[in-house]
Amino acid sequence: MSEIMVEAKDLVKTYKTGQVEVKALRGVNLTVRKGDMIAIMGPSGCGKTTLLNILSGLDDATSGTVMIEGQDLSQMSDNQKTEHRAKRMGFIFQFYNLLPVLTAIENVEMPLLVSGSSAKEAREQAIEIMRVVGLEEVMHSKPGALSGGERQRTTIARALISKPAIIWGDELTGDLDDETANTIMDLVARLRKETQATFVIVTHNPEVGKRADKILYMRSGQFVREEKNV
Ligand SMILES: Nc1ncnc2c1ncn2[C@@H]1O[C@H](COP(=O)(O)OP(=O)(O)OP(=O)(O)O)[C@@H](O)[C@H]1O
Ligand SMILES: [Mg+2]
Repeated sequence: MSEIMVEAKDLVKTYKTGQVEVKALRGVNLTVRKGDMIAIMGPSGCGKTTLLNILSGLDDATSGTVMIEGQDLSQMSDNQKTEHRAKRMGFIFQFYNLLPVLTAIENVEMPLLVSGSSAKEAREQAIEIMRVVGLEEVMHSKPGALSGGERQRTTIARALISKPAIIWGDELTGDLDDETANTIMDLVARLRKETQATFVIVTHNPEVGKRADKILYMRSGQFVREEKNV
């Protein structure tokens, strides 16, 4: 058995807006091992994004614990969490939009520049990863001039450039047609082999779910069933 990347115990999340309480998570337990790809599926509003936000330390649970690579998130300061995210995590979220005024490659190299790499170093690594995702021809285009699949590959390149140990994906093939979604998932499969990165992804697409090692089905803030893919 390989080492544990993520361990969540009894996660509960209650949102309070005015007088209204929403129980978004009602006791979620999860273990993710290094190199695993886990897909989370379930109806809209069942708590998938809430769970990813809490597992990655973007939001706090109401109760329960999250251990990431042996570290308890609740024991880390906001700065420590931010640093851990920058160094160890990649995000492929729809709200992590590409900046429209920058070219694709400028978007991709941004995480490296932010974390202190030199411009030259960042550009070299960005070119390399743009090759990996098959975007070398269009890397100087702005996102507005790219297709949906190319934009999504740019987002993936940006998530992967800092060689994260764990990648969180929320609908990483969301707006794409089946063929493009498949191309993206082929790319993810190749990157997994090359980097042994761990993936936890939310998807509505059963074809994407099948590519994971395990599908966890969620309903009303709980996992109700799991399915192992062989
Ligand atoms: N910031 C918030 N404040 C109040 N309620 C929230 C907040 N974020 C989410 N919720 C509520 O928590 C529940 C779970 O939301 P969440 O976004 O996790 O669902 P989801 O499974 O990701 O849905 P979708 O598939 O539509 O993205 C929903 O009832 C939602 O309305
Ligand atoms: Mg969501």
